[in-house]
Amino acid sequence: MKKIPSSEITPEYLYLSRRKFIKNAGMAAAVTAFLAACGGKIPFSQSTSAPSASSGTLSAEKTDTPDYTVEEPNENWNPVDDPLTDYESITNYNNYYEFTTDKNRVAELSANFITDPWQVEVTGLVANPRTFSMEELLKFEQEESIYRLRCVEAWSMVIPWIGFPLSKLLKEVQPSAEAKYVQFTTAYDPQQMPGTSYPYPWPYKEGLRLDEAMHDLTILATGLYGKTLLPQNGAPVRLAVPWKYGFKSIKSIVKIELVTEMPVSLWMAIAPQEYGFYANVNPNVNHPRWSQATERRIGENGRRETLLFNGYEDEVAGLYAGMDLSEWY
Ligand code: MTE
Repeated sequence: MKKIPSSEITPEYLYLSRRKFIKNAGMAAAVTAFLAACGGKIPFSQSTSAPSASSGTLSAEKTDTPDYTVEEPNENWNPVDDPLTDYESITNYNNYYEFTTDKNRVAELSANFITDPWQVEVTGLVANPRTFSMEELLKFEQEESIYRLRCVEAWSMVIPWIGFPLSKLLKEVQPSAEAKYVQFTTAYDPQQMPGTSYPYPWPYKEGLRLDEAMHDLTILATGLYGKTLLPQNGAPVRLAVPWKYGFKSIKSIVKIELVTEMPVSLWMAIAPQEYGFYANVNPNVNHPRWSQATERRIGENGRRETLLFNGYEDEVAGLYAGMDLSEWY
């Protein structure tokens, strides 16, 4: 398994010293206590003027630069050299349609979302169905995973998640032989989520094939930048699947179900011709309404080339051997 090595990431000063603390602490309990204690703001090195989103279905963002032109190629560029996206942008430029379709207002509208107490029910085709409290989930060893996040709308970030492999949770419940897929469901509470007045087939659902869910890169994230996850990023626990478009990384999970049939995600239900089950990042398969060849990295000017499987090809291409990726988009 290859994650982006931390040594090759341009660090943020404070973040680095905090991360060292987490590594040295060594115990999940210590991480939890630390995360809870961390309230201060990180000084940010970059600021981003994020464009506003259009309402309705996902749509490619408008940019200052002409679409689909790529910056001067840099022959020495290595994707693992990417600097981290600053904390301010990660926590203020969000997609969380249950609150609003306006990326710049998710933080404000989700600020009072109640995430404690929280439970995640793990059920379906498993030998040991079980409901985990958040405290129990935080007992899994919390590790850092620095991942690129590539939204289907053609913007991207690099995020230092804190979390643990989903495979560890699934092993606890023991999927049965008939289990082929994993379905995830987000919390649904119209009282707290103003965006759910929009007539979408709520709750937000997503799915993975069981082998994708068991892959080492697939994590349940509980924090980022060494801090507890904020509501806008999917608190208290969300998925991070770095080789797939961001909409697969479902937020604020309340239910994980092992099933035999391919789950129908919210986006598949709304626009099946635009959003498939696999949603692997692929510069060669365009969205029907825009190109996926390039992306805008938040905090940068110009555009970058989009990488097959978001740059995680070595790790995950084997999962799709023999599949036509334009058919299984
Ligand atoms: N999960 C839920 N429940 N609701 C959403 O609207 N948006 C998805 C994904 N998970 C979404 C969701 C999309 S389109 C993206 S790009 C990522 O969350 C964005 O995650 P971030 O806001 O933490 O960057």
